Amino acid sequence: MPRRGTDVLNSGLEGRVCIVTGAASGIGRACIEILEGEGAKLALVDNNAQALEQHTVADDGHMRLVADISDRADVERAFGEVRDHFGQIDVLIHSAGIYRISKLPDVDDEEWDQIIDINLKGTFLVCQTAVEHMREHGDGRIVLFGSFAARTGGLRASAPYAAAKAGIGGLTRHVAAYAGPLGVRVNCIHPGFTFTEMNTILNQEARSEAFSRTPLGRGSQPSEQAAMAVVLVSDLASFVHGATLDVNGGMYMA
Ligand SMILES: NC(=O)c1ccc[n+]([C@@H]2O[C@H](COP(=O)([O-])OP(=O)(O)OC[C@H]3O[C@@H](n4cnc5c(N)ncnc54)[C@H](O)[C@@H]3O)[C@@H](O)[C@H]2O)c1
Repeated sequence: MPRRGTDVLNSGLEGRVCIVTGAASGIGRACIEILEGEGAKLALVDNNAQALEQHTVADDGHMRLVADISDRADVERAFGEVRDHFGQIDVLIHSAGIYRISKLPDVDDEEWDQIIDINLKGTFLVCQTAVEHMREHGDGRIVLFGSFAARTGGLRASAPYAAAKAGIGGLTRHVAAYAGPLGVRVNCIHPGFTFTEMNTILNQEARSEAFSRTPLGRGSQPSEQAAMAVVLVSDLASFVHGATLDVNGGMYMA
C-alpha cells in the first residue's frame, strides 16, 4: 500500500524537548516559530535578555533562559534547568554566534579570543553538555551552524570568524563519531548570506557582491535556514549524521 506524503513527512517533533540557542534573533528565532508549529516543547536560550523577553512566541509553557553560551557554568545551569523542568532534552539547535568583518592586519588578540570563545568554544560547550543529557535516554539530535565562510574564507568575515566556522565542521564530525553510538545524531549547516541582524554591518556593495556570487541571485530568508535545521533534527533525517549541509543558493558548490 503506498504511503501518504503526510505519513512520510511527519517530523515526529510533537512533544519533543528542543533547546534553541540564539533564539532571540534571526535564524534561531525562525527555528522557534517552525518548532512551535510542530508542537515541540521549547527552551529559548540567548544572552540578550531584553530581546528574549520580547520574543513573540506564544506563551504556552516554553522556557526562556538568559545564558552566555561561551561560559561553561551558564551552559550547564541553563541545560540543567531544561532537563529538570521538562524531564529530558531531545533536540539542540545551536544558532547563537557573533560576526566581525575586520581585515587581517586589524584583528587583535581581544577580537580573536572573543570570536573563538563564543563561536567555537561555545559550540563545544553546548555539544558536550547536550550529549551528556541526551545519552541518558539514548536519543538526541543536534544541529550546529557553521558558515559558507568555512568553505570560502567568507565575504567580509574576519579571520577568527572563518577559522571558528571551519572548526565547527571538524567538531561536528568528532561529536558525530562519539555520540552516534549513544543514539545522538549531529549535523551542521553552512548558511549563505541570510537577512538577519548579524549582517546589518555589511554595506550595499558587500551585499551586491554576495548576490552576484550566488547563482540563485539573492540572499536567504532566516526561515529557509531554519526549515533545513528543523528537518535535520526531525525523523525525516533519521540516517543523516555527521553531515555538513550547504544552504547557500549555490554560492559554494562542493
Ligand atoms: N546571517 C548570515 O548571513 C549567516 C551566514 C552564515 C552563518 N550564519 C550563522 O548562523 C547563526 C545564526 O546567525 P543569525 O544570522 O541568526 O544571527 P543573529 O545575530 O540574528 O542572531 C544571533 C543570536 O545569538 C545571540 N548570541 C550571541 N552571542 C551569544 C552568547 N555568547 N550567548 C548566547 N547567545 C548569544 C545573539 O544575542 C542573537 O540573538 C550564527 O552561528 C551565524 O554565524 C549566519
